[in-house]
Amino acid sequence: MRQVIAGNWKMNGKFSDIEPFAEAVKNADLAPELVICPPFPLIQSFAAALPRDKGAIGGQDCHASPAGAHTGDVAAALLAEAGATYVILGHSERREDHGETNAEVAAKVLAALQAGLVPIVCVGETGMERDAGEAEHVVHTQLTHSLPERFIGLIAYEPVWAIGTGRTPSEADVTAMHAHIRAVLTEKFPASGAKTPILYGGSVKPGNAAALLALPEVGGALVGGASLNAADFLAIAASAPRG
Ligand code: PGA
Repeated sequence: MRQVIAGNWKMNGKFSDIEPFAEAVKNADLAPELVICPPFPLIQSFAAALPRDKGAIGGQDCHASPAGAHTGDVAAALLAEAGATYVILGHSERREDHGETNAEVAAKVLAALQAGLVPIVCVGETGMERDAGEAEHVVHTQLTHSLPERFIGLIAYEPVWAIGTGRTPSEADVTAMHAHIRAVLTEKFPASGAKTPILYGGSVKPGNAAALLALPEVGGALVGGASLNAADFLAIAASAPRG
């Protein structure tokens, strides 16, 4: 199975980080596809520093409209022009900090696809939802309403309670949720759903990556904190099973 290891730098990173990070990635010979999603201002320089066959660059959000009076937002086409080929959409921090709804995420996914970007759409339950036994139901609802009629891209399953906490679900819980997501995708998208990569995200580190990436239907990882350090990010990528 194709593996994708994506780094979500969130609101971290500086221009001076690009060169050493890109050098480390260039010198690594790794099987998975690497994607680095830095803050918007770094995208163009990062894309210029990293040969496309060594890694791709992604945004962390885009607006649903192609242009207009949306202060502080970024259009998908401009991300693409800056050198991004991917974009993370519907991250739980966007859903939480900016009140993004499933319908808004679906509109952004459509805009990304129209701009030629590959969307990485995030879903995942909160700790309270998991404790209440609602995890699969919540993820089902997010998938049903956050994806447009035609969807080509990646899904990232990121339990909110695992993000930045050092806690991860059990292997059985990851396996069960990824199987659930696969079932929803194949039902909703008969032509492409069986092949859509499903990444796991939430406290992926060099020490737990091999176990997580070896689980069935885990097609890679979306890595936050550990992606800021090139050695850790590349160690995670090196843990991916060779397809
Ligand atoms: P984390 O973040 O790896 O720091 O838990 C993952 C994410 O939010 O994508």
